[in-house]
Amino acid sequence: MESEAHAYSQTLGEQESIWFKISPLVNAADPMGILKRLVSRQSGCFPIQMRDEKIFFLSEVDHFKHVLVTKVDTYEKYFDGLKPIFGKAMITIDGALWQKVRQPQQPYFHPNVYAGYVPHFMVALRRKAADWAALAQTGQPVEMLEQTWGLAADMVCRALFDREVPFNPRAVFGAVKAYTDVSHHRAIRMKKVAGGLTEVTDAEVPAQAIGAWLTLPEAVISAKPWQNRADTLLQALLRSGDDPSMWEWDHQQVLDEIKQYLWAGTETTALTLGWAFYLLSQHPAVAERIRRESETICGDREPTAADLEQLTYTRSAVLETLRMYPPAWALVRTATAEDTIAGHKIMPGDRIVLLPYLVHRDERYWEDPERFDPDRFAPGKVAKRVKYSYLPFGGGKRFCIGGQMAQMEVMLALSQLLRRFRVEYAGPVPAQIAASVTLMPKGGLPFRLRALS
Ligand code: HEM
Repeated sequence: MESEAHAYSQTLGEQESIWFKISPLVNAADPMGILKRLVSRQSGCFPIQMRDEKIFFLSEVDHFKHVLVTKVDTYEKYFDGLKPIFGKAMITIDGALWQKVRQPQQPYFHPNVYAGYVPHFMVALRRKAADWAALAQTGQPVEMLEQTWGLAADMVCRALFDREVPFNPRAVFGAVKAYTDVSHHRAIRMKKVAGGLTEVTDAEVPAQAIGAWLTLPEAVISAKPWQNRADTLLQALLRSGDDPSMWEWDHQQVLDEIKQYLWAGTETTALTLGWAFYLLSQHPAVAERIRRESETICGDREPTAADLEQLTYTRSAVLETLRMYPPAWALVRTATAEDTIAGHKIMPGDRIVLLPYLVHRDERYWEDPERFDPDRFAPGKVAKRVKYSYLPFGGGKRFCIGGQMAQMEVMLALSQLLRRFRVEYAGPVPAQIAASVTLMPKGGLPFRLRALS
């Protein structure tokens, strides 16, 4: 495991990785402001030549449609520099192979199965509420992302794997951050010695972080089943890995898919909930409406999937959070053939960075876009929206498989936790963005929790 971890650590911060290349830009004081100025000067398509590679930043609705739908086969997935997180999981692959890997997993994300996940989400939420009750008594500040990451991991493990979380979420959250914060990538691979930079060795912290991440899938598989459910996503993954007729699958594929859910299905949900608590702490009237909606619809009983359908304001608040703080602020692709976008010649190998964050705050599509206003998403308004002006879950056939599940998780968490706690943001306002692989708050999200009587 050590040497595997070391091999992986070498792929972080590699000069070829686009995340490494754009890290000076995204670590700037106002990364999104810079990107906005750059693309707006160039009709929404800003090219940067970096040695042997050209990167195009795109921010127009037509560009999103072009890359994600019209010419989807010309633009393939790009995940260099993030191999330790995903391996060869389906989120990273394309074409017929991607279809074969996605197909056995799709039924576990069908709307019909989600109702069955709600009671599992509620178990995770009750545990979180008990933790929060103890934390509220101490009055100590908490790091909200650590809290929401643990909750999201618990929900994924129970609903999709039929497991109680078989690892220390706090430690794993720390390890995950080592990958997703691109500003660390170079520091992970290299350390300063007497002013110069030298390679890290197996024994050092980054290798431990990578090692911790690599052990997770086996820990999930070997953990005791929680409820002995007969049909779960985990079982479908294991069946596929063992089926000799499914040559696209092997045991490594199973391990990589599990890692994918513990990142793509966990960090994104955790960030959405974290940013939602931040916005709600700044807009107490919205928090109060969510609280009241939950009281009216659910009363004192356990919420059901049918209740979630009726929590329309809560859903609007979640969708508005995703507009303002889309965790996947950039979608990256590699061109596989020549093409033209906004008059620019695209060559095979060029990198394409789509910027949902910018279109989500574009005045042409959103009135007063810097304002947090859940009512933009009131039922009936969605139909009037310009297509491709809202892409928190991506678009086209590579649309997020767990988008609906994530909305349910965040809605349940808001409606339940806000009834028991007042969440008070204790960091600088406005919170600053660190645009790493995901849209992180710079310096985290410190909060104080107060129990409501
Ligand atoms: C609010 C939470 C979430 C956000 C914002 C989000 C966002 C996204 C986006 C933007 C993509 C497309 C990436 C691209 O086109 O390059 C994606 C793909 C994916 N997401 Fe999510 N996601 C969330 C929650 C989840 C959950 C809960 C799961 C599963 C438990 C999940 C699993 C996946 C997978 C497996 C893919 C790859 C699908 C494929 O390539 O076929 N996501 N997600």
